[in-house]
Amino acid sequence: MLAIEATGLTKHFGPEIRAVDGIDLRVEAGQIFGFLGQNGSGKTTTVRMLTTLLRPTAGTARVAGVDVLANPAEVRRRVGVALQEVGLDELQTGRELLTLQGRLFGLPAKEAREVAARLLEVVTLTEAADRPIRGYSGGMKRRLDLACALVHGPEIVFLDEPTTGLDPVTRDAVWQYVLELNRERGVTFFLTTQYLEEADRLADTVAIMDRGRIVAEGSPAELKATIGTDVVTLTFGSEADAGRAAAALNLFEGVQRVLTAGSEVAVYLPNGAAAVAAIVRLLDEAGAPARTLVLKQPTLDDVFLRATGHHLDDGSPRAAEAAAPGGTR
Ligand SMILES: Nc1ncnc2c1ncn2[C@@H]1O[C@H](COP(=O)(O)OP(=O)(O)O)[C@@H](O)[C@H]1O
Ligand SMILES: [Mg+2]
Repeated sequence: MLAIEATGLTKHFGPEIRAVDGIDLRVEAGQIFGFLGQNGSGKTTTVRMLTTLLRPTAGTARVAGVDVLANPAEVRRRVGVALQEVGLDELQTGRELLTLQGRLFGLPAKEAREVAARLLEVVTLTEAADRPIRGYSGGMKRRLDLACALVHGPEIVFLDEPTTGLDPVTRDAVWQYVLELNRERGVTFFLTTQYLEEADRLADTVAIMDRGRIVAEGSPAELKATIGTDVVTLTFGSEADAGRAAAALNLFEGVQRVLTAGSEVAVYLPNGAAAVAAIVRLLDEAGAPARTLVLKQPTLDDVFLRATGHHLDDGSPRAAEAAAPGGTR
């Protein structure tokens, strides 16, 4: 059964901004579907359309088998959603908020209180449950928002960047809980993220979004297998050096592909270990000596780079390094 199905889903804001530019989605029930892309790639807009909060410019979508345009109320009953911008009433306590949510979804008072207590336990907010939300940390608000999305026992849950800005311990707790709900209760997750590691760890299927389009899709293992080779990543003192090196490397025997991003060059080739010495010699001869050289098996970042032509600027130290102008660090 398909939990989410979309065809040609599109959202334009005016004539200029093609936030989501005709995407097709097929998410099997019981999956964790990772929607990976950097800021502005169209992730939130997609979630808003799928959860009936935003009307598509074109295309169709069915969630839990229900058409989002024909029957939005039914879709909302069947899904839970935790959006990126958390809109919580700061004066309420966490317990009050969760109980109210349960009542809004039609639970009797007693059951709403029970569900609230259980979810507070799950997101480890029991101790803070009776304090006003305004005193909660960012991580606590995130976890409370996640709990809100789960109050009515939805079969499909949309999480929009659930761990962005969270400390590693809280992030692990969220991951753990998502996996538990998925494995033990069969909840389907549509999870947007700008963290490669998160997509790799959690998702059964990953779709890579770039400027409103899906540019690659598959399981993390399948996606890495499409690279099919080792990757030698080289950094240079300048973009000019990187350009000269890329030109020379393109002619190197066995090289399948050379990608340049700023002063960094990625070379895809089988059996990279055997080629490293010859590559270093070649670059010296080309007058473009490498500052650093790393040989590795492909990662989702390599998949992302190949699909989009740029690194995922996910705020990690490695991405910041790659983006540093002129390789001066
Ligand atoms: N309400 C809106 N009006 C105009 N432009 C918007 C609106 N919402 C989003 N956008 C634009 O659409 C693009 C995709 O945004 P968004 O879906 O929020 O991306 P993401 O969640 O991947 O960061 C961005 O260029 C953003 O500025
Ligand atoms: Mg977003």
